[in-house]
Amino acid sequence: MSKSFTHTKLVIIFLCLHCLLSCKQSKNKEVEIQEIKIRIDSLNKSYSTKGEKIFLDSCSSCHRTKRKTDYLLRGILQSLGEPYVKLYITKQDSLIQSKNKLTLAIKEEYGNMGNSHNFKFDDEQLKSITEYLK
Ligand code: HEC
Repeated sequence: MSKSFTHTKLVIIFLCLHCLLSCKQSKNKEVEIQEIKIRIDSLNKSYSTKGEKIFLDSCSSCHRTKRKTDYLLRGILQSLGEPYVKLYITKQDSLIQSKNKLTLAIKEEYGNMGNSHNFKFDDEQLKSITEYLK
């Protein structure tokens, strides 16, 4: 057997081993990412459950819940953006006083009703509500 043939065989074996090992490593990473995604999902679900409770307590006297077909807040986070929705439900008076164009337009669209959203929610509660609204 020639020397160079043995050498080639060794190189091939090395390459195969390398491929096998790196494939296994990337599989492990995939599994890890999958596990993290599952954890985030279940965390968000628990936020959403808390959010539903808050919604039932604080919002459902005026807004239909997600379970209803005429749930009008569907897609509101996409159309207004999450930070704005958080601001809208906690500081509506300030938004009106500073003549925020979007707030004034929304008020007008609904016939300038006398209500306003100035809820005292902390970050955790706001996260729960927005998770519920998704
Ligand atoms: C007293 C009745 C009332 C309560 C309680 C209430 N809302 Fe509203 N909401 C309204 C009305 C009326 C409007 C229409 C615009 C306005 O007046 O602000 C509105 C508008 C909104 C909008 C903007 C909708 C759009 O189409 O642009 C969001 C978001 C919203 N409410 C979220 C909430 C959340 C979340 C809660 C509970 C934390 C809540 N609201 C509690 C009456 C209420």
